[in-house]
Amino acid sequence: MSDSDKKFILIVDDSSTNLSVLSQALKTAGYKVRVAVDGESAMAMLEKCALDQRKTPFPELILLDVQMPGINGFETCRQLKANPATRAIPVIFMTALADAQSKIEGLSLGAVDYITKPFEQEEVIARVNIHWRLKQLTDNLEQQVTERTGALQQAQVQVVQQEKLSALGQLVAGVAHEINNPLSFMVSNIAPAKEYLAEITELLSLYQKHYPEPASDIAIKIEEIDLDFVMEDFSHLLDSMRIGTERIKDISLALRNFARSDGDTATAIDLHETLDSTLLLLKHRLKNRGPRPAIEVIQNYGELPPIKCYPGPMNQVFMNLLANAIDALEDAWEKDQRSLKITINTEVLRESAIVRIADNGLGMAEEIQQHLFEPLFTTKGVGKGTGLGLSIAKQIVKDKHGGQLCCKSTADEGTEFAIELPMQV
Ligand SMILES: Nc1ncnc2c1ncn2[C@@H]1O[C@H](COP(=O)(O)OP(=O)(O)OP(=O)(O)O)[C@@H](O)[C@H]1O
Ligand SMILES: [Mg+2]
Repeated sequence: MSDSDKKFILIVDDSSTNLSVLSQALKTAGYKVRVAVDGESAMAMLEKCALDQRKTPFPELILLDVQMPGINGFETCRQLKANPATRAIPVIFMTALADAQSKIEGLSLGAVDYITKPFEQEEVIARVNIHWRLKQLTDNLEQQVTERTGALQQAQVQVVQQEKLSALGQLVAGVAHEINNPLSFMVSNIAPAKEYLAEITELLSLYQKHYPEPASDIAIKIEEIDLDFVMEDFSHLLDSMRIGTERIKDISLALRNFARSDGDTATAIDLHETLDSTLLLLKHRLKNRGPRPAIEVIQNYGELPPIKCYPGPMNQVFMNLLANAIDALEDAWEKDQRSLKITINTEVLRESAIVRIADNGLGMAEEIQQHLFEPLFTTKGVGKGTGLGLSIAKQIVKDKHGGQLCCKSTADEGTEFAIELPMQV
């Protein structure tokens, strides 16, 4: 809206001569004028403005006569100031009551000025100009304060979250590192243990071959411990220990990948590995829990070249999206015991790497989708969600990578988040 569209003034006066003289003068000075002949009709006009501000905008200023039939100017002003929709409109009283008491009453009601009749047209125009300008400056200032406050709140939320994540990242990296030492004892000892077992087994068979009739207490012991079974099972035990240590190694690697300290440098990485690490960390949530069956993860990975991105933050994005999908699937299971699926698709499309993470959970209503990416917006109970996941994910994808994060969702059918990362960051 340009300034000239906004220069709209309401004159409330029961004297038609005053109305026409003032209207003419204000129009000549470049204002648009509307008039009301008493307090009631002024209030009715403002109510209409409140209903549809685009069609009938609020006046920028009100010139208000004090002595009028019906509710007088002071009462009209009191009602205007009591209503949040009209409180901010400056009111200038125009009255023949020139005594100090009346002026004080008028100004204490929140009027910005007081003009006594009979008035000089030039004076009225000069005062209206000043107050109109002041109103513009106040509006501007208020808008700036609102914008800055919003930006500040958002920045604060992000700083707190990032500090938490970086502290958590350091802890996780530390734990992963500490696990590695004892783990390597186990990994490096299993192979020799298997060799020793093979040697001892061989030695025992030699004994059996050369001394087929052992002393009776040896024969009793062989029977008691079921030697054949022990020898066979020992080897299986070592095999399962090897598988166990390999799993711990994968998890430790996934943890270190997740908490990568190179969060501040863009590196070309294989996004599929990053996705796999995140899935591994979420394995405990994906598997069956009580009556709820496991969540099936379908990995439709396409051909992706190494993508230059910030690995630590990208992990967070995948983690937030996958955790949300699992939450939605858990709710869906509670509702109708459907089979639960997460589908991950990757592909290159128009110079961008696309990762789509879809679930067949409860989806979202239109109203929820509108607020999805706002910081602190959550539909989850206290202690369950902070409402920061998606706002952080969006910030990472958009601001840090120049990409896009979009959501498509159908209530009761599921949700798909698509991450688009430009390939030349
Ligand atoms: N896959 C999804 N299916 C259905 N609703 C979703 C999905 N992802 C997000 N939402 C909705 O969006 C809201 C905001 O998600 P966001 O990740 O920002 O916060 P949160 O998960 O509630 O909390 P947290 O900060 O712990 O992530 C969720 O509360 C949920 O209502
Ligand atoms: Mg979340």
